Amino acid sequence: MDWGMKNRMSRIFKEDGRTVMLAVDHGYFLGAVSRMENPRRTIEPLIPYVDSLMITRGVLRNCIDAKHNIPIVLRVSGGNSILDEDLSNEGITVSIQDALRLNVSAVALSIYVGAPHEHQTLINLTRFIDQAQECGIPVLAVTAVGKELEKRNAKYLSLSCRIAAELGAHIVKTYYCEDFHQVVESCPVPLVIAGGPKMKSEHDVLEIAYNAIAQGAKGVDMGRNIWQSHWPVAMISAIRSIVHEGASVVKATHLFESLKDKKR
Ligand code: 5RP
Repeated sequence: MDWGMKNRMSRIFKEDGRTVMLAVDHGYFLGAVSRMENPRRTIEPLIPYVDSLMITRGVLRNCIDAKHNIPIVLRVSGGNSILDEDLSNEGITVSIQDALRLNVSAVALSIYVGAPHEHQTLINLTRFIDQAQECGIPVLAVTAVGKELEKRNAKYLSLSCRIAAELGAHIVKTYYCEDFHQVVESCPVPLVIAGGPKMKSEHDVLEIAYNAIAQGAKGVDMGRNIWQSHWPVAMISAIRSIVHEGASVVKATHLFESLKDKKR
């Protein structure tokens, strides 16, 4: 790995090799999703607690002050909306020049293995990797499932993650699932987990984060389960304690409970 690539990776993954990424890129196909109607208001208070932001260029340019020294993981795929039945019909939405102009630490693209546009999304990934590699920019592949949330099992996710890594992704974002260790074992690059749609209890989210880290994930890249919580700062702090301090679910839950009324 060249110095620039290593340097960007080390901005995202901290000294302990782990990361707490905040995903706020949902609007690229979901529009003004609940609690992200005003991105600046939702994102700004969380910046001090996260290691990087996964975001679209529109929200980055318009809603985040450039003074923040926060590593950016820029979403560069899209081209559809939640109104489409098939969400896999994605293309590349940002040039490598614009990603460089935005001083990003990594770029992110979705792949849709087994979906109608599987081939197109895998070629999007490889084409962008070729360009990003030239510029020393790491590429994060998201193993997206669109509306088919039931696909999230170890057999499917390990297939998807492995394909992403084989094609050259430097980081893979996937979902936690039963037997998650199988997904980790068969993926030779660092894995981070998404949170998926908002869960009923914060405790369940902390449990997933704990189990994922215990089974080898290098971090989380969660969105809705953080900022759709009534207590986003307490939530991200509890997640951080799991990822960076090795806190148990019980300890992280105590931290969450102790912070929730203090920090809204
Ligand atoms: C969809 C995405 C999302 O936009 C987002 O990053 C997912 O985060 P979460 O599921 O934790 O809300 O990558 O494929």
